Amino acid sequence: MSPYTLRWGIIATGKISGQFARDLLVDPSSREVSDVSHQITAVGSRSVESAQKFIDGLKNPAEGDSWGWGAKNGKLDRVKAHGSYDGVYNDPNVDAIYVGTPHNLHYKNTKDALLAGKHVLCEKPFTIDIEELEDLVAIAREKKLFLMEAVWTRFHPIAYAVEEVLKSGKLGKPKRFAADFSMEYDLDSKPDSNRFVDPALGGGSLLDMGPYPSVWAMLLVHRNPHNKDQNPKVVSSYQSIYKRSGVDLDSRWIVEWEGLCRGQLVTDLTSPGLRENTAALQCEEGDLIIEYPPQKPETFHIIPRPDRYLASVKEKTTHHHPVHAGNHGMSYEADEVARCIRDGKTESERMPLEESKVVQRWFDSVRKNGNSSTKEMKGTAGQ
Ligand SMILES: NC(=O)c1ccc[n+]([C@@H]2O[C@H](COP(=O)([O-])OP(=O)(O)OC[C@H]3O[C@@H](n4cnc5c(N)ncnc54)[C@H](OP(=O)(O)O)[C@@H]3O)[C@@H](O)[C@H]2O)c1
Repeated sequence: MSPYTLRWGIIATGKISGQFARDLLVDPSSREVSDVSHQITAVGSRSVESAQKFIDGLKNPAEGDSWGWGAKNGKLDRVKAHGSYDGVYNDPNVDAIYVGTPHNLHYKNTKDALLAGKHVLCEKPFTIDIEELEDLVAIAREKKLFLMEAVWTRFHPIAYAVEEVLKSGKLGKPKRFAADFSMEYDLDSKPDSNRFVDPALGGGSLLDMGPYPSVWAMLLVHRNPHNKDQNPKVVSSYQSIYKRSGVDLDSRWIVEWEGLCRGQLVTDLTSPGLRENTAALQCEEGDLIIEYPPQKPETFHIIPRPDRYLASVKEKTTHHHPVHAGNHGMSYEADEVARCIRDGKTESERMPLEESKVVQRWFDSVRKNGNSSTKEMKGTAGQ
């Protein structure tokens, strides 16, 4: 049977849109996928020149670029450059829109796409606040359209492998969790308009990097078979401030899953982060440690607890689960979107909208508890 082909419209021509588009153009068989495939039929930018340049770049891979497969195999044959995002929403050759604009535009762009009848995959963080997200979910449900936050890490081979360990029960009940996404980012050298620097674009570490300690909190604790708390809350948080624009330099927050455990989550723009321990779940029978970087780790370890000689985990084991060669890692989430739309689903069981809401509420709490220039920032829900 021939694969189901999803026709994508890409919104914005920035860094991550380019990465996503290139992954759509990688041969699906390179990641052992044969039931779905992808076609890029429209690209929208604030200028048509930029949209065309983006398309020209996709059509001109360097020798050996894995994504050169797409252009050679007709995946860009009908692509159209639009000088506005609206042009893509209204393009009859588009089934689903990928939103790759700065955080503060996710709500408007996603809403406009849904109202035009398109399915949407929206970059993280989904929205500025929970009100925006609830509005988008209501619109998608009313219009029976697919909607998902682009948390690509959830679909990586390592994420499924770790889930199998948790389901096997060999680690027992979670006792403690910690996750960290830190990188040394030279804010001083960036212009005021940089999206990490500018509070109006949702700048700072929390909204940009927070989805990554959160993805492991959700996969390791929230989706753990032992967890019953569907609305874990932030019980304490701290932010330090970048003086020039008032955005948060680092954010630290503690989440409690009632009756189970607490987790400490960190984002930090001032330090390179712990290379061998980006997320750690300590359980009754042993620990599970995920290596850096949290957005795309390839290795995890299972470690015995020396304090409990009766525990069932007896020796340290190391497990490698890299993304398939030639794929940056965003192709898997695109495959999920294609399968869900093919099957008439309006959300993914792997990345449910309720789980996006849990994380969005954490960000709202941390911002409100802190003193950054995004403390009082409100989204534009309803507008
Ligand atoms: N999943 C991941 O691994 C990952 C990685 C990086 C970023 N992201 C997310 O993707 C989003 C975009 O990040 P990025 O790094 O791609 O940003 P970027 O390189 O700055 O690109 C953003 C694009 O948005 C469009 N845009 C519209 N209004 C804009 C405005 N007022 N200021 C700046 N750009 C505007 C521009 O495209 P046009 O000129 O074509 O309209 C611009 O190129 C962010 O929300 C970020 O959190 C995700």
